[in-house]
Amino acid sequence: MNDVAHVWYCAFSKSQSKLPEFELLLSKDEKKRAANFKFKKDRNSYIISRGILRALLGSYLGLSPTEIEFEYTSYGKPYLSHNPLNFNVSHSGDMAAFAFFLESEIGVDIEKIKDDFDALELARHFFSKNEIESLEKQPRAELSRAFYRCWTRKESIIKAEGSGLSFPLNKFTVSLDNDHQATLAATDWEATEKSKWSLFSFVPQEHYIMAIATRKKNTTVQYFNWHTIQV
Ligand code: COA
Ligand code: MG
Repeated sequence: MNDVAHVWYCAFSKSQSKLPEFELLLSKDEKKRAANFKFKKDRNSYIISRGILRALLGSYLGLSPTEIEFEYTSYGKPYLSHNPLNFNVSHSGDMAAFAFFLESEIGVDIEKIKDDFDALELARHFFSKNEIESLEKQPRAELSRAFYRCWTRKESIIKAEGSGLSFPLNKFTVSLDNDHQATLAATDWEATEKSKWSLFSFVPQEHYIMAIATRKKNTTVQYFNWHTIQV
């Protein structure tokens, strides 16, 4: 997988029977965090997501899933302290996504596409001037979908970068008019920065969209459905 990023996705509803198995893989800290979720649904999703992450990392690193030890940056991003494999996780609704890459930082964001909000209003708070203009040109029926294309792409970049909301969201521009083609069109603070990144968009299931970002140009991505290829 050296020069190829691997991206896995799963549906929590299809993993419920494995919950006890996944729970056994969790560390003390993770079990504590799981116990603190108010809603059972969120607790179960967290257990499944950490269980699958551990199973995948174990398989990539040739370790038992319980041997994986996470460190956290001051922004809360988990990483492996003694291994160069970069990874990132995202979850939304019934789905989770897991991205792995050796060559650079990687960020992934998955979102369930909803349409019960004012996409333009929210975009005006978070998006760049050019993104807002592109969104305004979208047909009404495409508006929330285009919003989530933009959101996931921006968030995958922020998550690769790792500094959370302190990263200036309106200072870079991504494309939003196509489900399958994603580009980082502008990075305002340094014009050449955009050419150092690769950005991808993927539809894992109806009503969901995800984006993957690496800080390495010409990255390629392979996608895997956890439910059809288990490790
Ligand atoms: N950077 C990258 N990844 C991080 C992270 C960070 N600073 N902090 C946590 N993560 C990882 C964790 O693995 C976490 O999963 P876990 O809680 O099960 O361990 C996972 O990312 C959560 O990702 P996601 O499901 O996409 O969550 P989110 O969208 O609610 O939050 C963060 C994303 C964690 C980066 C959040 O701190 C944040 O900054 N959100 C910004 C949201 C936003 O305004 N986006 C604008 C897009 S236009
Ligand atoms: Mg997210």
